Amino acid sequence: MSRLESEKALAAARAVDEVRAGMLVGLGTGSTAAYAVKSLSDRIRQGLRITAVATSQATETLARRLQVPLVPFQRISSVDLTIDGADEIDNQFQAIKGGGGALLREKVIGTASTRMIVIADSSKLVPQLGKFPLPAEVVPFATEFARARLAELGASVTLRVAGAAPFLTDQGNHILDATWSKLASPSEIAAALAAIPGIVEHGLFLDQIDTIMIARGDTVEVRHRGQA
Ligand code: 5RP
Repeated sequence: MSRLESEKALAAARAVDEVRAGMLVGLGTGSTAAYAVKSLSDRIRQGLRITAVATSQATETLARRLQVPLVPFQRISSVDLTIDGADEIDNQFQAIKGGGGALLREKVIGTASTRMIVIADSSKLVPQLGKFPLPAEVVPFATEFARARLAELGASVTLRVAGAAPFLTDQGNHILDATWSKLASPSEIAAALAAIPGIVEHGLFLDQIDTIMIARGDTVEVRHRGQA
């Protein structure tokens, strides 16, 4: 296993230590979150009783295979603890997510959660967000319109593809990946994207994350929002 892979697994296992009996757990999406689903499955086999909701069809498939008991999110309005990865996270607990295309469900479930833990290998902690393209999920009807509006905001914009066709999210929407030479004010960009009709959600997570667990080598740094 490479160093970054073992860091992902380590951060994931540390976050799963926070799960308590009876919790409803939000399961993130991506390779780091998949390690958390595996760790959780190990604890369930040892007798832990929880239920979970998945942030994507991919995670749902993995959780079913690993016999993690799932409930459909459609029936739920709040979640106790969500464990998810990120593409970039900064020291202000702001993150870019959506590299796996699951940003909409991730944001709904993260926002519904009493506590959201982001787990990551050491490459994900950055001094400033924006090197990783910011994904925006857009209804296909509005893709070209939204692309033009993002360009007016100074972004270089790419339609995400899967082979020769546009990538489709679990909702059947497109993803526009936007890059700025400098993402100076994430909150201004978030507000501007929220004001573009047709964009359903964007991958800036500014308020949702309560705890960061970053693995570096064989240790995990745990930081809580609001604590020095
Ligand atoms: C999926 C996500 C993922 O959490 C993010 O892309 C990180 O993935 P990985 O752990 O594979 O690097 O936001 O939409």
